[in-house]
Amino acid sequence: MYRQVEESQTLLINTQSKNLVDQNKRVIKFGFGQSPFMPPKPVLEALKNAVDHKEYSSVQGDIKLRQCIARFHKVHNGLHVTPENILIAPGSKILIYNILMTFENADVFIPTPAWVSYAPQAKLAGHNIIKLETSYEERWRVHPTTINNAVKDKQHEVSIMILNYPGNPDGLTYTEDELKNIAQVAKILNMLVISDEIYGLLNHTGSHLSFANYYLEKTITTTGLSKWCGAGGWRFGVALLYDSIEPEFKQTLIGIGSETYSCAPTPVQVAAKAAYKNYNEMKVFIDQQTQILKQIGNFCVERLSLSGIQVHPPEGGFYIFPDFSLYKEKLEYYGIRTSTELCEQLLNDTGVAILPASAFGFEEEYLAARLAYVDFQEPVNSAVFDLSTDCPNVIEGIEKICNWIIAKTQSL
Ligand SMILES: Cc1ncc(COP(=O)(O)O)c(C=O)c1O
Repeated sequence: MYRQVEESQTLLINTQSKNLVDQNKRVIKFGFGQSPFMPPKPVLEALKNAVDHKEYSSVQGDIKLRQCIARFHKVHNGLHVTPENILIAPGSKILIYNILMTFENADVFIPTPAWVSYAPQAKLAGHNIIKLETSYEERWRVHPTTINNAVKDKQHEVSIMILNYPGNPDGLTYTEDELKNIAQVAKILNMLVISDEIYGLLNHTGSHLSFANYYLEKTITTTGLSKWCGAGGWRFGVALLYDSIEPEFKQTLIGIGSETYSCAPTPVQVAAKAAYKNYNEMKVFIDQQTQILKQIGNFCVERLSLSGIQVHPPEGGFYIFPDFSLYKEKLEYYGIRTSTELCEQLLNDTGVAILPASAFGFEEEYLAARLAYVDFQEPVNSAVFDLSTDCPNVIEGIEKICNWIIAKTQSL
């Protein structure tokens, strides 16, 4: 009778962790991907001063703001997008969903691993989901041959591929050659590509490359304030449409927006103008964050690797995707056969919350999990960041995971 939709697994782990906290249990929160950084002061001030903006805006969003966003992205990553081809909405999540909803029937190519919401959204939209397998050895990157081979499972005329880098859950990005190769295949197959670049500004070396620059014809870039600006709860997302977008497609997208969210919160749009006003001013703030995130990510990877947990050093955002497969047989002895059992046992034994690989498209037996290394307070002075004093919870959480796996498996 009802549609089959479960609560998003990222939100679920947050609820489970909260329950433990309510029982006065200590929880280290590596489950939920929320930025610990506050938005920059001028952006906060702008929001405070905008409370009286109680009016609705247009569905597409304030035109002056769209002009700022166009300029910002031109400087940041050389994207040429006109303000007319920008859509603003309460979060990029609803934009991705509405883009999928624009089509009646489509094949949606989704890499594994991928963000938890793509597949449920594609399913809600009634589309055929085609998985693009990747591997640990190949750094979870999608290969052109994988795309070409997957085409045999197509059922419809329209093909949509969703890419996301720096990635959630893997923290990895693509090289320019890799992007060019994927773009070449996408072009031959006439795919619409949704390039989810919500973590683009959090590339740890400030060198994010936008997919649209290699596939101008049919890439929609999604981004927003949730990650680099630390304002997930403000709900502000952006879609950058391609120049030659079919007018009917754009109108349908705006139409769906008008029937679902009406507009992004107007006070937040005012604040967003301060965030998107000047890329170079924001870059100072962003660089401070990425320096810190990079150090923490590298610490986590080094420490986990020493304990036989395989994991790639992150290149952007705040996630890593540790693989516990080397301990598979030994963990089985404790009845841990799935990534969900792994995460549940770890949470119960140590109070460390991480999110199972099954949430990201893997079969249950694959023993990996996503770790969001964000359980720390924004340092008072980012310039003198010190891992041991500024991130005690991260250090404790990582030590707990390492000690847990060693204690569980050493004596067997
Ligand atoms: C990969 C990815 N895409 C999209 C989103 C949605 O972000 P927004 O807050 O803009 O809806 C998230 C949020 O966690 C994410 O991790």
